[in-house]
Amino acid sequence: MKLLTGNSNKKLSKKISKYLNNKLINSNIKKFSDGEIYIEINENIRGNAVFIIQSTSNPANDNLMELLICIDALKRSSVKNITAVIPYFGYARQDRKVVSRTAISAKLVSNLITNAGADRILTVDLHAGQIQGFFDIPTDNLYSSPIFIRDIKKNYKKNITFVSPDVGGITKAREMATQLKCDIAIIDKRRPGPGKSEVMNVIGNVKNKTCIIIDDIIDSGGTIVNAAEALINRGAKEVHVYITHGVLSGEAVEKIKKSRIKNLVITDTIDNSNKLKNVKNIEVLSISNLLGEAIKRISNSTSVSDLFK
Ligand code: R5P
Repeated sequence: MKLLTGNSNKKLSKKISKYLNNKLINSNIKKFSDGEIYIEINENIRGNAVFIIQSTSNPANDNLMELLICIDALKRSSVKNITAVIPYFGYARQDRKVVSRTAISAKLVSNLITNAGADRILTVDLHAGQIQGFFDIPTDNLYSSPIFIRDIKKNYKKNITFVSPDVGGITKAREMATQLKCDIAIIDKRRPGPGKSEVMNVIGNVKNKTCIIIDDIIDSGGTIVNAAEALINRGAKEVHVYITHGVLSGEAVEKIKKSRIKNLVITDTIDNSNKLKNVKNIEVLSISNLLGEAIKRISNSTSVSDLFK
């Protein structure tokens, strides 16, 4: 088994490589002056099972193209099989036609990755679980919840209410609340336009509660900042947030710094190290051991789902 890293999140790849005690494949990925991507693999990988690690985060199109080109290079290097390890799967939110005459880009991206030659997908907290069905190859979708639950148990002892910031997140909030025997609340969020969010109502009792918002993605930060504001206005004692993928576009970090959020915890599916220097209320927990263990289990043909029992 061998590991190859793309350029999107080398820090995470190095941690996974350390966990598995398995060196990253010696390779060069660079760009020509016109922007075309070029990869060269500098060692023999014939017959190996290769895991290519690449998040399709910002710049999404470059990182996606890099992943496709890496898969092609692996295929042409006569590897045994290719697992695309995509800690953050970009384009996942475009998983249906919200209005007429739009693309289902998540399906298109799944087709591209499969057609490039991937034999298997390993990813984390897909925006919608059914995206697994967009791939006609085996897909393992890992959950960050065990990492979050461990941290929540360590830091918050009682009076917790888990909050879903929209209707789509109810299942996740309920699962965590069930495990920790807590209540849940739901935010009735509307999107008046792309990238804008509005809280219409809060369903459930949040008065004097330590509210923990759970979500899969924080992008512009609008959803979470507005949700925290609404919870505090309805009497919540404090608001903490756990989100798997820190997209953190535009002014998101500044918004969170100034918000009513006491603490935001994200994982390192996306490398945000440049954005988070000197930011006190955003913490990063690593997903590397979970991904490393899943890679080990896939490689040894043992159960991945047992990781979540
Ligand atoms: C939406 O369904 C997602 O789960 C997130 O709530 C959303 O993508 C967050 O976006 P933003 O931070 O821009 O409000």
